[in-house]
Amino acid sequence: MFDRKQLIEAISHQETPVYYYDLLLLQQTLDAAKQAADKHGFHVHYALKANFNERILSLIRNAGFGADCVSGNEVKKAIEIGFRPNDIVFAGVGKSDREIREALNHDIFAFNVESIAELTVINTLAAAQGIKARVALRINPNVDAQTHQYITTGLDENKFGIAHWQLGEAVETLGQSEHLELIGIHFHIGSQITDLNVFKSLCVKVNELNNWFDERGFRLQVLNVGGGLGVDYHQPDLHPIPDFQSYFSVFADFLERKPGQEVHFELGRALVSQCGSLISRVLYVKNGIKKNFLILDAGMTELMRPALYQAYHQIEKLDGDAGAQGDAEQLRYDVVGPICESSDCFGKEVLLPKCERGDLIAIRTAGAYGEVMASRYNLREEIRYLYSPTPVGVDT
Ligand code: LLP
Repeated sequence: MFDRKQLIEAISHQETPVYYYDLLLLQQTLDAAKQAADKHGFHVHYALKANFNERILSLIRNAGFGADCVSGNEVKKAIEIGFRPNDIVFAGVGKSDREIREALNHDIFAFNVESIAELTVINTLAAAQGIKARVALRINPNVDAQTHQYITTGLDENKFGIAHWQLGEAVETLGQSEHLELIGIHFHIGSQITDLNVFKSLCVKVNELNNWFDERGFRLQVLNVGGGLGVDYHQPDLHPIPDFQSYFSVFADFLERKPGQEVHFELGRALVSQCGSLISRVLYVKNGIKKNFLILDAGMTELMRPALYQAYHQIEKLDGDAGAQGDAEQLRYDVVGPICESSDCFGKEVLLPKCERGDLIAIRTAGAYGEVMASRYNLREEIRYLYSPTPVGVDT
């Protein structure tokens, strides 16, 4: 798991900030997810948006996952890494004509279509190539994911998917579109969902809609229920691998599949979060009257989640006399970055062993939506990486 000694040794001559990926933990996570999904015959597409680092993608491909993409470049990247086109799906509310054409050229498994207008555009572009495009309708089920409002996607007020009251029109459009083949329905209600009851509510909606299509004579091949399984940001060492068994069991128990129907998932965060940490050095300790500031060489440019969503990430001191858990003097710090924004803060009043310039700090659970959301604001350096040794017997 998170091997501090190995990490400190590896990092001692490295420039920071640097993303550290524990490939052994990643492999264990992938194995656990695959095993739990296989038990029910479920297919998992990995959501590339969570992390498209090539070493990570190679391990995910080799473990037998498909790819869930949200841009033409993600589709391209998935193909380059070696995901089979038949294992690639493409979602997104704003697919451009060029992106659609390229995905059609690659003959990907399906487009997850987010509006009626998009159905018409894909039909026209497929007609121009003289082919049929496989589509799944992304339906907005109006189910509350009970997560942060910025990562809730399945409510009527969200921009995603086709509203349930527009389904009649969508089906009519499909009837008039010779170059579209409806293969399924698709849902994604939000991210970092920790209450599994939310997924039960989703199953109820999916069942209703599955019946609705069945009654109208559509034999859907696929029910795609998206991603969203949350991870433990507070205790990464206690829960390094999410409880995939319980998650998939909800769908096995509550989803009513018609004969021959496949169930597809699009997990991102749950597969890659815990294997990644952002490692930084303390540049300055600034003791104020009201606050002690720990100024790191990493900032919101490397990990934007705290600034954007007020997200919690565990912050640890890695080295020093007694290490993070020792009996060294403890102080409360506001842990901040060097960027010229007050929101450039990783945590307030964080209790840490007393720190000094040069100390190593780990910001945990940063494997998903970390590196991929980095920016060059303030003309920051490109992101650096460090990997744990590749798991024995695993080819990357
Ligand atoms: N499928 C679709 C259509 C999605 O939009 C997403 C994520 C996923 C699957 C994967 O969801 P996951 O299993 O990772 O929850 N930047 C935010 C998260 C945005 C999620 C966007 N969509 C964060 O840092 O929390």
